[in-house]
Amino acid sequence: MELFDKLSQGEALIERAILVQIGFGKHKDQQDEQEFKELVRSAGATASTLITGSRHAPDPRYFVGTGKIEEIKNAVIQHDADVVIFDHALSPAQERNIERYIECRVLDRTALILDIFAQRAQSHEGKLQVELAQLKHMSTRLVRGWTHLERQKGGIGMRGPGETQLETDRRLLSIRIKQINKRLEKVSKQREQGRQLRQKTEIPTVSLVGYTNAGKSTLFNKITGSEVYAADQLFATLDPTLRRVKLPDQQSIVLADTVGFIRDLPHDLVAAFRATLQETIEADLILHVIDSNDEQRDFYREQVNNVIHELGAEDVPQLEVMNKIDLTEQQAHFDEGRDGLPPRVWLSAITGEGIPGLKEKLADIFSSQVFKGQLRLHPALARLRAQFYENDAIVSEEISDKGEYLLDVCIQQRKLDAMLEREALNLEQLQQ
Ligand code: GTP
Repeated sequence: MELFDKLSQGEALIERAILVQIGFGKHKDQQDEQEFKELVRSAGATASTLITGSRHAPDPRYFVGTGKIEEIKNAVIQHDADVVIFDHALSPAQERNIERYIECRVLDRTALILDIFAQRAQSHEGKLQVELAQLKHMSTRLVRGWTHLERQKGGIGMRGPGETQLETDRRLLSIRIKQINKRLEKVSKQREQGRQLRQKTEIPTVSLVGYTNAGKSTLFNKITGSEVYAADQLFATLDPTLRRVKLPDQQSIVLADTVGFIRDLPHDLVAAFRATLQETIEADLILHVIDSNDEQRDFYREQVNNVIHELGAEDVPQLEVMNKIDLTEQQAHFDEGRDGLPPRVWLSAITGEGIPGLKEKLADIFSSQVFKGQLRLHPALARLRAQFYENDAIVSEEISDKGEYLLDVCIQQRKLDAMLEREALNLEQLQQ
């Protein structure tokens, strides 16, 4: 394709948006404004202007007052805007009323976040989950629209095909929702099998979580040496990516990268991503990545912990990773957790400073669950020896004068116990 065509196609996709953000009772927060603009940018729109204001409570009809709605309408005309985006959840009726009044498409915060998720989802499961959440968001609007119209049955323009169309739409939506649910069930069964397989091999899972843009994917890449998409865009990561990582003392962990969290994450969406975030719930450790250079870091930490709570993963131990120290005065170091707070590793995922320290810390945490030592196996125990090899657990091996295997092993304690039980042996018999 000609460069010019590409450019003009790209330009055609960018929508001009009027942004609306209203403060309720509290004074306007610079950070909220920044994040809202960031979200709009991530969705691929350009902000023509931001309209702000303050109210005690939302207006039931237009969410904002009559003066403000007029201001929005004028801005739409002045900037020739394609869409008006509210940084708030709107009721279906409010959305409809505003659209009618200003004669322009309206998106609320939930729809905006769903749109970003829809663009970013990569795996089959991720895409299905987003579509499901979108359909549910849409169906509340359609259903209410329907009942609203039904009351006026018989009115001019309300008879005939208009009504039938709504009914058809509603039925199609519910069929599609059922189909997706069915497919999701299948995909999550496959995921479950993968998880069971990992549990069988007793490899601990470490899950990376954090506020969006904290640097999870960058850290994931640095630790695993792989190339997961890391971008200065919100929610670049939507699907969990799993990699096996060897720690300095030879033991392995599985590292899971997950979706970035954000304040006021629509409730439906947390529910939709529950399956994807299952890795977090069932992890042996949560690495909570925090942008240490962000003034709002404490607020973000709290928001992420709220979602962890909502997922039922509050009892999973945490290690906090204070990332981006290259932008601060901090040196790479480790803080012991005090007063019930999690321990912290300070590092930079970009420069790599502090990464070896993190790996050692992880090895420390899991070493209590690992058996390391020498075992002496009678020649008749060749099957047990083969199992050690299968588990990649043998550091070195010698054969004694009597034909015994002298093994230097490093293996998950739980795995070793299970192997010995199957062979009806105990550890002492192999340590003489
Ligand atoms: P989501 O996918 O939105 O959840 O983001 P994420 O947490 O995976 O963040 P990601 O790794 O994509 O990084 C976000 C931005 O921060 C990128 O521009 C990175 O280059 C940058 N970044 C990550 N780690 C560091 C760091 O240690 N120092 C600096 N200066 N920038 C970093």
